Amino acid sequence: MRILFLGDVMGRAGRRAITENLAAMRADWRLDFVVVNGENATSGAGLSPDHAKVLLEAGADAITLGDHAFDQKDMMGFIESEPRIIRPLNFSKAAPGRGARVFDAPGGRKVLVAQVLGQVFMKRPFDDPFSHLDTVLKAHPMGGMVNASLVDIHCEATSEKMGVGHYCDGRASIVVGTHTHVPTADAMILPGGTAFQSDAGMCGDYNSVIGMEKDEPMRRFVTGMPKGRFTPAAGEATLSGLYVETDDRTGKATRVVMIRKGGRLAQASPAEAPD
Ligand SMILES: [Fe+2]
Ligand SMILES: [Fe+2]
Repeated sequence: MRILFLGDVMGRAGRRAITENLAAMRADWRLDFVVVNGENATSGAGLSPDHAKVLLEAGADAITLGDHAFDQKDMMGFIESEPRIIRPLNFSKAAPGRGARVFDAPGGRKVLVAQVLGQVFMKRPFDDPFSHLDTVLKAHPMGGMVNASLVDIHCEATSEKMGVGHYCDGRASIVVGTHTHVPTADAMILPGGTAFQSDAGMCGDYNSVIGMEKDEPMRRFVTGMPKGRFTPAAGEATLSGLYVETDDRTGKATRVVMIRKGGRLAQASPAEAPD
């Protein structure tokens, strides 16, 4: 199966890059399944129902969220009516929606999508992600119930992300990190057959501080004094993520390519498009 994952969509610039490019990428790269992280798509904080519809209509088969899952309060109700949106398994015992789901892909194939939050350096305490993942992966074995599975590990620390990657190695097709908004250069296939990258990077304007206009974060760093609000940077976005090919029979990854398309990151290092 040919699967594309795109990291945190950041505000209007990120949404625009998705709506302008994803349909062509789906066709040109003959993608079977696309997962997009949408936790920052609305003003950099959360995902509104309208913007969720934009991402789905643009070509996302599934949307994952993160610690900002419910910053847009309308998502609390909307997620119950839109099963293509996945929030972290360990967000809260009281959270609406689901943290994992099996999706249909072309040819009768099945894809599991799951998301967990990490615990290291996060602003709020979350439950142990490993036990949640263990339960979900045991219930959905690759080569049995599903043809492929993707885990979005949403956290700060690269060490924790790598820990989750190795924990899932051989049990998931893809483990990909989100949340830090800067892509790491460690795309690889782990020994057990799981495609992994510590962070996918964001779909946003990289002339920024992790997707936000520079002025306010720079003021806070340099002077220690907040003055205004954070607003998403509005320049051309880079679509950042991971392209993975998997074996439908075993679910294991056979190829992984880091994707950076458009905007500043692609100027420095063009996207290596799948052929
Ligand atoms: Fe986040
Ligand atoms: Fe994010």
